[in-house]
Amino acid sequence: MECVCVWSGKGGAVVKVVVLGAGGLWGRACVAAAEKAGHSVMALRREDIDITVADRVRDCLKELAPDWVMNAAAWARMERCREAPTAAWAINVEAPVRLGRLAAELGFRLCHTSSDYVFAGKRRKPYAESDREEPLSEYGRQKLAADDGLLAGQGGGVLVVRVAWLFGPGGATFMSQIPRLLRERDRLEVAEGRVGSCLFAGEGGEVAVELMAREVSGLVHVVHRGAVTWLDFARACREEMMARGEEVRCEEIQGVPMGRVSGLADARPPFSVLAVERLERELGRPMSGWDEGLKRFLQEGT
Ligand SMILES: NC(=O)c1ccc[n+]([C@@H]2O[C@H](COP(=O)([O-])OP(=O)(O)OC[C@H]3O[C@@H](n4cnc5c(N)ncnc54)[C@H](OP(=O)(O)O)[C@@H]3O)[C@@H](O)[C@H]2O)c1
Repeated sequence: MECVCVWSGKGGAVVKVVVLGAGGLWGRACVAAAEKAGHSVMALRREDIDITVADRVRDCLKELAPDWVMNAAAWARMERCREAPTAAWAINVEAPVRLGRLAAELGFRLCHTSSDYVFAGKRRKPYAESDREEPLSEYGRQKLAADDGLLAGQGGGVLVVRVAWLFGPGGATFMSQIPRLLRERDRLEVAEGRVGSCLFAGEGGEVAVELMAREVSGLVHVVHRGAVTWLDFARACREEMMARGEEVRCEEIQGVPMGRVSGLADARPPFSVLAVERLERELGRPMSGWDEGLKRFLQEGT
């Protein structure tokens, strides 16, 4: 047998879900959400399967015969994409587009993950799924190319969820790290100058699973309601931690220009708020606000 991992969940579960890139922040959230929904889940990390090895992916998915594949595998670090664009393209574009073709061939439904960095951030009005701009970065161009490749000429089998500013337990993203930084540091400097949407990965995974169950296809923005800055988020996080009686060492949170913060050399959209009207139509309810996502994050463990 090519795939040596085992299905989680009860035998005979109705829906078999394979999660690719299951070791990452979004992948872990997708696994947890699919399990919580009662599905039978096969969590495949990079060590289990490299999504760029086309034959192996095909053989594995043919053998596993999943109902859904959720692709959370990617190179999500912008500098890495800029420094090794060909390798990044193979993971971020070629592999997902191939998964789209395999979905049609093998008869599974695919959920792929896009990014708000497909936008340049030239405006001050939330972006809808139909909006287009030339991305500012190699990473953004790759994410857009995968969206285009997956959505062009597709039947109903592909859902692309466009997420933004993910945070969740064990995440390497800045927002994921804020509670720890507030516990450890006297003073926190936070890069200013960008407004966007964000998403608690745990809730995002649940929403993606719900959209899959509702057989939604095409492109859907999956983020919390409300525009946010890193500074707003850090300050709200401190207040919430204190209200919960958690230990907070940090006494001062200071906004600083982007250029003064190391690791942010690549151009990011100054504005990337995503409209959630389509999401809310598909769910039949309002999406939660980012403050609620933050509360869940702190409650469920950072
Ligand atoms: N993080 C955000 O704020 C954010 C915002 C917008 C969109 N997104 C999108 O969300 C998705 C998930 O991002 P994330 O934040 O969860 O990133 P992440 O934590 O870095 O997870 C990505 C996972 O993909 C794995 N991977 C890398 N190359 C692979 C390959 N060739 N085959 C199989 N697995 C591979 C990585 O494994 P290793 O770690 O072992 O290399 C990692 O576990 C991506 O599509 C990203 O573009 C993220």
